[in-house]
Amino acid sequence: MGDVIQVASPVLNGNEKKYVNECLETTWISSKGKYVDEFENRFAEFCRSRYAISCSNGTVALHLALLAFNIGPGDEVLVPTLTYIATANAVTYCGGKPVFVDSDPETWNIDPNKIENKINSNTKGIIVVHLYGHPVDMDPIMKIAKKYNLFVIEDVAEAHGALYKDRVVGSIGDISTFSFFGNKIITTGEGGMVVTNNEKLNEKIRILRSQGMYTSRRYWFEVIGYNYRMTNIQAAIGLAQLENIQWHLDKRREIADLYYKYLGSLLEYIEFQAEKDWATHSYWMFSIILKNTVKISRDEFMEHLKNDKVETRPVFYPLHTMPTYRETKEKYPVAEKVGHKGINLPTHGLLKEEDIAYISERIKKYCEYESCDGD
Ligand SMILES: Cc1ncc(COP(=O)(O)O)c(C=O)c1O
Repeated sequence: MGDVIQVASPVLNGNEKKYVNECLETTWISSKGKYVDEFENRFAEFCRSRYAISCSNGTVALHLALLAFNIGPGDEVLVPTLTYIATANAVTYCGGKPVFVDSDPETWNIDPNKIENKINSNTKGIIVVHLYGHPVDMDPIMKIAKKYNLFVIEDVAEAHGALYKDRVVGSIGDISTFSFFGNKIITTGEGGMVVTNNEKLNEKIRILRSQGMYTSRRYWFEVIGYNYRMTNIQAAIGLAQLENIQWHLDKRREIADLYYKYLGSLLEYIEFQAEKDWATHSYWMFSIILKNTVKISRDEFMEHLKNDKVETRPVFYPLHTMPTYRETKEKYPVAEKVGHKGINLPTHGLLKEEDIAYISERIKKYCEYESCDGD
């Protein structure tokens, strides 16, 4: 094998160059321009929702969503402990407290059965995260939210185009947020989007995103806002990516099917993140858990793969184990198991069958290692 097999890679195989060149030629390179409007309109359509508000990245998309619900000191927001840190940090930016919830053992997503006992009079909402592309079981979540009068934010950073039953994720909660970082299913380099069906929330978020300036009155500010805008160049890339999103999704499913084919004989050693019968996974990351039958640690396993030029990532460390959010009293056994034993394998549109066959053959070898001495 020659080059390193990367865990993620953008694929810019559509109109990206053409649209970016047009921005340069017409000098519309800042946060105004036709691509911003077109990307927002087309993205709202893709999410089968009324409004999409572009912004600088997925973290500020979450911040805007929480600001729209007036989250502040004393407020609590339920968040899965097994997620990327931005989900919790956005609550902290607002002065609120992220309250962690353990994961479902099959999907690794927030476990709806573990939510109700975390709710108290300070709880204002729930952020669900469709982890690695697998949709959250939304029906029970929406039922709990209704019962306790909580908002629901869907963090769809990792799950563009995934389906919950026949609904596209991002169209179910009150607000959804997306990331278009370079490793995501579609990318703008850095970028994000907030999606909602609610007209008032749409207006509020647009104002907050653009320094708090009223859209109908230039240089009139009644709230403290932010400069969280996306540029026309980023939106140009995003529009080109969105035109091809079905290709990106199909490619990822192909890669996942190949992993199932080549790793399917190793179930004595590994577990997969489930794909439930009500779910269409969008496979941002194809991930495995090492069972106890594997004799080497997860980190040694990844180190061996790295030496074989296969880049991997550990599944996120649960947030309650991070120095910034450490908790010792509460237990989160499922998230701890997945976080301790999980690995993200290379998943992107440039991979070929021979890459997956090679990665799987190396995985088999390390699954069967007797000790870390190896060969
Ligand atoms: C679940 C989740 N939420 C939020 C984010 C933040 O997105 P960004 O990196 O665009 O700020 C990420 C990013 O990778 C993520 O995985």
